[in-house]
Amino acid sequence: MQIKSVGVIGCGLMGSGIAQAAATAGFPVIVLEAEQRFLDRGFTGVERSLAKFAEKGTITESPDAIRARLKGTTNVEDLADCDIIIEAILENVPEKHKMYAALEKVAKPDAIFASNTSSISITELMAATKRPERFIGLHFFNPVPLMKLVEVIRTIATSDEVFEAAVDFGTKLGKVPVRTKDSSGFIVNRLLVPYLLDAIRAYEEGVGSIVDIDQAMKLGCGYPMGPFTLLDFVGLDTCYYITHVMFDEFREKRFAAPPLLKRMVLAGWYGRKTGKGFYDYT
Ligand code: CAA
Ligand code: NAD
Repeated sequence: MQIKSVGVIGCGLMGSGIAQAAATAGFPVIVLEAEQRFLDRGFTGVERSLAKFAEKGTITESPDAIRARLKGTTNVEDLADCDIIIEAILENVPEKHKMYAALEKVAKPDAIFASNTSSISITELMAATKRPERFIGLHFFNPVPLMKLVEVIRTIATSDEVFEAAVDFGTKLGKVPVRTKDSSGFIVNRLLVPYLLDAIRAYEEGVGSIVDIDQAMKLGCGYPMGPFTLLDFVGLDTCYYITHVMFDEFREKRFAAPPLLKRMVLAGWYGRKTGKGFYDYT
């Protein structure tokens, strides 16, 4: 099975990074967004990132040559010729279902559908399509251009051929693939999400300040970012959506949203992307 062209849906934090990784690996990429301004914003981030890599000499081609392989669209029909389509829109089941239903109407019958979901069951997303054996999870990590991991997730219906093609594709993108089955949060978020939520609970209980909890985990455990810096980086809206899905799956308190997280999201404090979260970015 040959993957020659790539479609990406969503040009936010993750979609733009996935598109960049695929274009850097030599694939022609078309990115679908809801509005042109989101494509512009995402591609500006890609250009900045490519310029940084060029400065450091970590890419072999010019940023312009890589950028030329990236195209944007707001019309789903433009994804008709893609061999693999990776969806990275918001972490919401009805929205993702709507997207896959639209995609099913236009995509090639043998195209592979992949979701970058953090927590939603791949099987549940697959059920909105007519290609269960060609549906997988490809879970990248933020920031995609720097993080080396991709989780490749199979359902009970995924074919071996499609699964191995996805593993191979992840490797071509310069990532290290790990194989995992369809369980909410897969490997990384199964372990990471309770830790991040516990940091909020520790803060709510007055165990330490935001800055001190971050310092403690950075300097005490060697983590590159403390939990509050990482929560802001991932996006509090996304983290909040994830808690709904994971709590629904496991019914364990460690996956439930702490009240402070809920209130911050209700107030529109989504972290870096809105300029305010646990820290101020204005
Ligand atoms: N593209 C290119 N270069 C980039 C970049 C990007 N997108 N982002 C940062 N850089 C560069 C910076 O410009 C900087 O370059 P210089 O050394 O020339 O200044 C260099 O990378 C290092 O960056 P920083 O100095 O800003 O910070 P850092 O040393 O802490 O590294 C980091 C940044 C790699 C993001 C590191 O902080 C890190 O690994 N953080 C943890 C990230 C993490 O845990 N991600 C997973 C989130 S969970 C998830 O993704 C799953 C989910 O479903 C929610
Ligand atoms: P984001 O909010 O930064 O980007 C989502 C993008 O999707 C937005 O630009 C939005 O305009 C676009 N979009 C929404 N509906 C659309 C539609 N119908 N058609 C086309 N585009 C549409 O979110 P993100 O952080 O990039 O997360 C995207 C997905 O990746 C989520 O499923 C999330 O759980 C997952 N994920 C996020 C992270 C993270 O650290 N933020 C890490 C791994 C996986």
